[in-house]
Amino acid sequence: MRIVLVGFMGSGKTTVAKLLAKKIKLKLIDMDELTLKQSGRKNINEIFSLDGEQKFRRIEYAVAKKISGGDNVVIATGGGVVINPLIMDFLKTNSLTVYLQADFDKMKQRVYLKKIKPPLFQDTESAKKIFDLRASLYEQYSDIIIETDDKNVNEVADEIIERLRSK
Ligand code: S3P
Repeated sequence: MRIVLVGFMGSGKTTVAKLLAKKIKLKLIDMDELTLKQSGRKNINEIFSLDGEQKFRRIEYAVAKKISGGDNVVIATGGGVVINPLIMDFLKTNSLTVYLQADFDKMKQRVYLKKIKPPLFQDTESAKKIFDLRASLYEQYSDIIIETDDKNVNEVADEIIERLRSK
């Protein structure tokens, strides 16, 4: 089984992926972590500010290619994977893609709890524009949509497991 979690920044992909992987005993792959490792930078904001978004996207593409087809894994993606159809081709091969859907304000709250805000969520207005552009892509690429607004991480992970059973 190969499960790919997609969704906007602050939708809970990494946290849910960790718990889900533990519950169903699959390996966890965190794409942002691999991209960061590959970049040699200290954090993702540094990649964006020193190397630029294009460089980040190139490394992200290489990571998606490298992990393509791997089995028994839960993959937490970065929020921007859906803007590159080639990345989505790599990710969607033999996988079930789960979209963690959430209200924009909920995601904003979660992002603002973090010490360092992600580079593309520095201000609400531009983040909202990016979200509006991507919302239909997340839907289009997903096999399962989970509404996360009034659920905690455990409930979201359990709902994914439940929905996977009927797939
Ligand atoms: C991005 C989301 C981030 C990270 C990078 C770009 C995006 O991941 O990949 O900052 O374009 O939405 P998270 O969604 O895990 O924050």
